[in-house]
Amino acid sequence: MRIVKVSLGNRSYDIKIGTGLLARVGRECARLALSRRCAIISDRNVAPRYAKAVQDALAEAGFAATLVTIPAGETAKSLRTLESCYDQLAAQRLERKSFIVALGGGVVGDLAGFVAATYLRGLPFVQVPTTLLAQVDSSVGGKVGLNLKAGKNLVGAFHQPRLVLCDLDTLASLPMREYRAGLAEVIKYGIIYDARLFEHLERDLPKLLRRDPRALAAVIARCCEIKADVVRQDETESGLRAILNFGHTIGHALETTSHYGKYLHGEAIAIGQVATAKLSAQLLGLPQNDVQRIERLFQDAGLPTHVKLSAPQRQKILTAMSLDKKVSDGVIKFVLARRIGAVEFGQLVPTDLLAGAINHQPSTIQ
Ligand SMILES: NC(=O)c1ccc[n+]([C@@H]2O[C@H](COP(=O)([O-])OP(=O)(O)OC[C@H]3O[C@@H](n4cnc5c(N)ncnc54)[C@H](O)[C@@H]3O)[C@@H](O)[C@H]2O)c1
Ligand SMILES: [Zn+2]
Repeated sequence: MRIVKVSLGNRSYDIKIGTGLLARVGRECARLALSRRCAIISDRNVAPRYAKAVQDALAEAGFAATLVTIPAGETAKSLRTLESCYDQLAAQRLERKSFIVALGGGVVGDLAGFVAATYLRGLPFVQVPTTLLAQVDSSVGGKVGLNLKAGKNLVGAFHQPRLVLCDLDTLASLPMREYRAGLAEVIKYGIIYDARLFEHLERDLPKLLRRDPRALAAVIARCCEIKADVVRQDETESGLRAILNFGHTIGHALETTSHYGKYLHGEAIAIGQVATAKLSAQLLGLPQNDVQRIERLFQDAGLPTHVKLSAPQRQKILTAMSLDKKVSDGVIKFVLARRIGAVEFGQLVPTDLLAGAINHQPSTIQ
């Protein structure tokens, strides 16, 4: 088992990565001195597969766990689901000292985390992420929240988990499309922080696509280390943490304008990252060779890298971007890459360049 520490003073916690971890959830929670009662929040795809194992493991360690199941998919990150979770916790009489276990992908983690941040003015929670995206990204760092009709993640809080348990075994049942979407965040860490990780991914991609557990454990641990390092330096996103949003301004706008239906989050940010790499070449001198390597790695991972848009669709995306949380005083700030492994945040991008970037054509890669 690999352990990555997230150092945030008295809110520090461990991320544990390995196989067979679901069976250890109880023992791990027992070490945190939590109270006896808890609720597992999971979704309709994950609960039938894994909730019993988690519930049994908790029971063995003396915890009484009730299960709250929410619908699967991005539309479940809604006020409606939130209310239904509150109602069920109230019906189960969860108390101020009870805790929440988020068992699922990023949707469950974000929603259950927000429930934990707000119910009875805040309960402790444990993340048990079951998608690749959630294991390398959404379960770490304490951002929790939900979507409004006006846009993604417009309601939220910072609420750090007490522990993150990444069980690699759970990835076996993840549909290939979801798995590839997780690779989009993995590749992002290489671009924003670690040229060696990027090279490693170029070399080891076939092993990762086969979900080789050794290759996966090393890569997931490295991604968590990078995220932990960034979050430690800037927990509440007043600066550096923005680099984690590389490709996300465009990606979020694509998700919003397609009403969360057409693209998975990872697919939308794959397109967003390639578009942002091209903007970076124009504005920060990212070498063309790096742009091509970035585009090729996403393609080899089986992810979309461009989108064809009509003029009205393009306009809708530009409008959506102006509603993004990263907009301040009407100016859109971007994270741009200077080279693979080094990015700069707070870069102002003129809207005419932006219009071109979101309608780009795929490069011809030799
Ligand atoms: N909080 C953050 O810092 C942060 C960071 C990145 C992304 N996010 C959020 O994460 C969400 C996306 O997360 P996601 O990609 O994990 O999506 P998801 O939670 O919707 O999971 C994807 C699909 O896979 C299913 N699934 C999950 N685990 C499975 C398993 N082991 N086997 C079979 N099926 C499984 C789910 O039911 C769902 O249908 C978005 O809402 C995004 O905004 C948050
Ligand atoms: Zn993301």
